[in-house]
Amino acid sequence: MMPRRSILSVPGHVEKMHLKAGQSAADVVMLDLEDSVPVTEKEAARSQVIQSLGSLDWGERVVTVRVNSLDTPYAYQDLVSVLEGAGDRIDAVVVPKVNSAGDIHFVDRMMDGIEMARGFSRAIGIEASIETARGMENVTEIAGASRRLVSLVFGIADYSASVGARLVSISGHGEKEEALYPGHRWHFALSRMVMAAKAHGLMAIDAPFGNFKDADGLIRSAAMACAIGCDGKWAIHPGQIDGINEVFTPSPSDVELAVKVLSAFDGDESHGRGAVAVEGRMVDQATLRLARQLVAQARHLKLI
Ligand code: COA
Ligand code: MG
Repeated sequence: MMPRRSILSVPGHVEKMHLKAGQSAADVVMLDLEDSVPVTEKEAARSQVIQSLGSLDWGERVVTVRVNSLDTPYAYQDLVSVLEGAGDRIDAVVVPKVNSAGDIHFVDRMMDGIEMARGFSRAIGIEASIETARGMENVTEIAGASRRLVSLVFGIADYSASVGARLVSISGHGEKEEALYPGHRWHFALSRMVMAAKAHGLMAIDAPFGNFKDADGLIRSAAMACAIGCDGKWAIHPGQIDGINEVFTPSPSDVELAVKVLSAFDGDESHGRGAVAVEGRMVDQATLRLARQLVAQARHLKLI
């Protein structure tokens, strides 16, 4: 699977941003038909997205499209138009405000039909946004609802609204969290989603950070998500991509440490040793699994 460290959300109706996104260092470009597009531009955005998918060079990067949520008059037409018009050019559809496994089944069946009708050889993926109380309550069944699922994505502002949490910053996307609640306000919700994702072999993606001028806040927010198991984070501005990529890329010293742990076991636990001491710390089979995971990730990103 391609890495999904940074996912740049790009308003579907703004063509010049599509050009910029195509040249960015984002692992994933997500062309958005939902909340960054005003109601008056919904149809224009759909056509623009189909045109950009067909005409721009997206290189090696993953390209996804976020459709409108299934309780709107736009979603079914987004799915039909975008998948018929450019389904062979997108890696996945991002479905917002997924409430139940049934939402995923609906999209999955639509994709079956369109893929058959158009003769697409590659299956289109699904990414489910978990951003409602119902979605979070049903997150386990959502994560297991389709073989097309690639990731679960935390939607912080909609989730806040859904559970009635107060808006405390202008954007509602991830500021002042530590000041309001011991630890992090969304720790439980995000961890709950990460657990469901990982139990089903999916990636877990953190919500965007709304203050795109606050580089330190972004790094703090990304590092927290990385620490609890997220694989990447949405960006809403190109200026956020490098910082996010850096946080979700193992550092040279992390890689060195992991290699040291592997070599303490000669790269293999079959030597009959459970726990060993490395630099005065206990290192056991669980540490070995963590180290293997980090080395695999570093190889995946071609760092070693
Ligand atoms: N994707 C691609 N390009 C983007 C971009 C994005 N998400 N956000 C900004 N840019 C481009 C701008 O077009 C501008 O390009 P230019 O230098 O060629 O003119 C450049 O990056 C700098 O942008 P800037 O002037 O700093 O920002 P702005 O005031 O134009 O826009 C936002 C700020 C927040 C409105 C804009 O970043 C945006 O629309 N982000 C996406 C929002 C979104 O997708 N929300 C839904 C998901 S939560
Ligand atoms: Mg949302």
